[in-house]
Amino acid sequence: MIKSKLPNVETTIFTKMSALASKHEAINLSQGFPDFDIDNKITELYGHYSKKGYNQYAPMIGVEKLINSIAKKVKKDYNVSVDPLSEITITAGATQAIYTAITTLINPDDEAIIFSPAYDSYAPAIELAGGKTHEVKLVHPSFSINWDEVNKLINKKIRLIIINSPHNPTGAVISKDDIRELERIVSSNNIYIISDEVYEHIVFDNKVHHSLLTSDILRKKTFATYSFGKSLHITGWKLGYCIAPRNLMEEFRKVHQYNVFSCNSPAQYAIADYIDNTSPFDKISEIYEKKRDLFLKGIKNSRFKVIPSNGTYFQLLDYSNISNENDVEFAKRITIEHKVASIPISVFYKDKTDDKILRFCFAKKDETLLKATKILCRI
Ligand SMILES: Cc1ncc(COP(=O)(O)O)c(C=O)c1O
Repeated sequence: MIKSKLPNVETTIFTKMSALASKHEAINLSQGFPDFDIDNKITELYGHYSKKGYNQYAPMIGVEKLINSIAKKVKKDYNVSVDPLSEITITAGATQAIYTAITTLINPDDEAIIFSPAYDSYAPAIELAGGKTHEVKLVHPSFSINWDEVNKLINKKIRLIIINSPHNPTGAVISKDDIRELERIVSSNNIYIISDEVYEHIVFDNKVHHSLLTSDILRKKTFATYSFGKSLHITGWKLGYCIAPRNLMEEFRKVHQYNVFSCNSPAQYAIADYIDNTSPFDKISEIYEKKRDLFLKGIKNSRFKVIPSNGTYFQLLDYSNISNENDVEFAKRITIEHKVASIPISVFYKDKTDDKILRFCFAKKDETLLKATKILCRI
C-alpha cells in the first residue's frame, strides 16, 4: 500500500458531473469546453505540419516560431516587451504552467495565498510541493478581493499569491486598484505571483483585462500563465505558455524539463502559423458576450437569480428561490431529473461554503443554450 500524497483529494467535480451528464443524457453545461466546431484552418494546419514531418520532440522551451508569435501578441495586446527566448516557455496547457511555477516557487513550509472560490488545481499543487495554502474568500456576491484579509496574512513565510482574472468560476475581473494593492505587497516582501490569465480574451461590457504583465513592479515577480485551449477553442490540444522574467524563467525551465520536457510539436507549428496569419483573439470577447446574452435572455423568466459575469465563459446562478438543498445535491438532481448539468460552487472552497450557487458554462452552440435555458425556466 502506498501513502497517499493527496489523501483528501477525490476525482474532480468536472469529471464527475460530465460523467453524470453523459449517463443521464443531460445537456452538459458543467465542464468548461466549447461544443461548437473550431476553425477548419487550424485543424488543416495541424495535419499539414504533421504530414510535413514535424513529429519529433520540439525544443524544450517551445518552437521558436511560436514563442516569437507570442512575444508579438503580448506587445500588441498589452504594449509589453517580452524576450521570447529567455522569458517564454510553451507548456502542456496552463495547468502544467501553473504546476511548474508552483513547484519552482514553493519549498517545504512555504505558504501561499489563493482566493476562493478557487480553480481546483492550485491547492493540491501547493500541497504536493510541501507548502501550506491560505484561502481568502472573495466577497460575495461581487467576488472582489478583501485586501484587509490578505494584509493580515502577510508574513515572512508567504512566498506566493495566486491571482486569477478573469476569474473561474465567478466571472469577476480585477481592477487597477487591485494591481496597486498587489504592487504594494510584493514591493516590500519576498513574495511572488502566479497570474492565471487563461481567460484574458473573454471580457464583457467593454471591461478591460488588466494583465499583471502591464505593471513594471509586478512583471519582475510574476509567472503569468495562458492557455491556447481557452483562447482558440482547442482545450483538447493542451497547449499554453508561461511568461516570466529571465531569472524566474531559468528556474521554471529546470522543473519544466523534468516534468514534461517539451510539448506537442505539430500543434505548436500549427498555432504559430494560425495566429501569425489570422487575428483569432480579437473577436473572442464578442463571440462569448453574445452567448452570455443569449443565455441570460433565455433564463430571464426563470426563478434563478443572476450573479453578473464580467468575463470567462461561465455564468453563476443563485437558486435560493428554488430550493434549500445543498448545491452538490441540487446540481446532481437537476442533471438527473431535468437533464442540465452544472457545477456546484461549494467545491471551489476548502470549507465547502454553500451559497446556493451553480456555475453554467455558456461556451456552447446557440441551440444547446436555447434548449438548456428552456429547461432551466421550468425548474
Ligand atoms: C482558471 C483556470 N486556469 C487554468 C485552467 C487550465 O487550462 P488548460 O486547459 O490550458 O490546462 C483552466 C481550465 O479550465 C481554468 O479555468
